[in-house]
This record gives sequence, structure tokens and C-alpha cells, in this order.
Amino acid sequence: MSALLEVAGAVTGYGRTRVLHGLSLTLNEGRSLGVCGPNGHGKTTLMRAVSGLLRLWEGDVRFDGKSIARSAPQSIVEAGLIHVPQGNRLFPELSVAENLRLGAYSQRARPNEAENLERVFALFPKLKTRRSQKCRTLSGGERQMLSIGVGVMAQPRLLILDEPNLGLAPIVKEELGEAIQDIAERDITLILIEQDIEFIMSVTNHTLVVEQGEITVDTSIAGDMTHEEIVSRYFGENA
Ligand SMILES: Nc1ncnc2c1ncn2[C@@H]1O[C@H](COP(=O)(O)OP(=O)(O)OP(=O)(O)O)[C@@H](O)[C@H]1O
Ligand SMILES: [Mg+2]
Repeated sequence: MSALLEVAGAVTGYGRTRVLHGLSLTLNEGRSLGVCGPNGHGKTTLMRAVSGLLRLWEGDVRFDGKSIARSAPQSIVEAGLIHVPQGNRLFPELSVAENLRLGAYSQRARPNEAENLERVFALFPKLKTRRSQKCRTLSGGERQMLSIGVGVMAQPRLLILDEPNLGLAPIVKEELGEAIQDIAERDITLILIEQDIEFIMSVTNHTLVVEQGEITVDTSIAGDMTHEEIVSRYFGENA
């Protein structure tokens, strides 16, 4: 098994504020990685640095063995590294089908558009029945399904989902969780950022906790840590 993604000593931030303090991780092809940690501790920042939206101050990011630390976001997308950002980045006035079609804009994804569309509809049958509906009229859960669907349309080798469950009701979360599990069990390498540790550990092969811009727990090193042990570590002694 070879490393698809390697982050080595990543340091970056905003303005003069350092957010990541030399963070490193490796993810092998076909595996799935969970990332959790308290709000504002650098999870999204790490993913922005990986997908080229934020420049590294120090360190390197390698995708499939090649450094992408200086690559433009578009060429990172063409290489198959697809980042579904936190929050809603859909086109509200376009339909479900039109939003999905825009997900397949890269040269990499365009030839497989029809096949990937079927894949998305198999993952989220609801989107198929609502294909002509304007995105702004979708429920929060449907919008998240569509966001993930747009990511799948881009034909990812590595798919990064940044808190796809945020603010959703438990029943919707369960439905979304099944689809995410399905993605993780296929050929797509997955990074899932998520606050629910029990959920994240049930879906992914291993989990990292990011605190203050550093990895403080790595379940692949920590061995058989239960989610309770991680919760107590994550929330501290007084939780
Ligand atoms: N565009 C920005 N400009 C300035 N500071 C930012 C910006 N985006 C994030 N930050 C700051 O960087 C730090 C890390 O934020 P980040 O969004 O990476 O956290 P997070 O772990 O993803 O949090 P959450 O769980 O709430 O999504 C925070 O202190 C945040 O205020
Ligand atoms: Mg975030």
C-alpha cells in the first residue's frame, strides 16, 4: 500500500497568526481517515492547506508522491484531490442536476459524467427524485447530500468532507452516514472531519485529534483506544 497523501511539517495560518504548528500525517490509498478536535483548532485550515486554498509557510504536501504545495487549486482538482468545504457552497438558483453537472467540470471528471451521476443517484436516491428542483428550496440534509454528490461528480481519488453532518437532525445524519460509509468502502480514499467521535470512529479506519494546530491523538499509534478514551482526552480531564 502506498501513501496517497503525505503532509510533512505543515505550518500555516492567517495574517501573522499561526494556526498549524508543524503538522504531519500520512494516508494510504483506499483508506479512510477521521479528523476531529475542538472548534477553531485548525481542522478546516489543514484541509485548505492540503487542497491548495491556503499556502504553507513551512513544510510540504505530497499527493501520489508529488509535491502539490505550490500547485494551483485547479491542478490539484485535476489530480483528483477533491475538497467539499465546510458550509454550503452550492449555486442556490441552479437545479440539483445543474449543480451536479458543475461538479464534473474538470477534464478528469468530464468523460465520466454520466457514470458518476448514476453513482451519486445510487448513493442519494432522494437527489434523483429532486433533480429538477432549485437548490435553494432543498432541506439542509438534502443540501449536504448534494454537496457530497458534487464532490463525487469530480471523480475523486481523495475526497475530503469537512463536517458534512453539521447542524443536521439525527435521522438525517444517519442517512448521510450510510452514504459516507458506502463511499469509504469503495475505491475512494476519504478524509472525514466530524465532531461526533463515535460516528467518525465507526466510519473511518483511523482517527486523528487536532488540538491547537497539532495532532494530539492518532488512533493508529494509540492502538485500540475507545471513543470514550478519546472523548476524555479531547474534552480534557474536567469534561
Ligand atoms: N479566513 C480566516 N482569517 C483569519 N483567521 C481565520 C480564518 N479562518 C480561520 N481562522 C482562524 O483560524 C483558527 C482555526 O480555524 P479553523 O477553521 O481551521 O478551525 P476548525 O478546527 O475547522 O473549527 P470548526 O470545528 O469550528 O470548524 C481559528 O482561530 C479561526 O478563527
Ligand atoms: Mg472547520
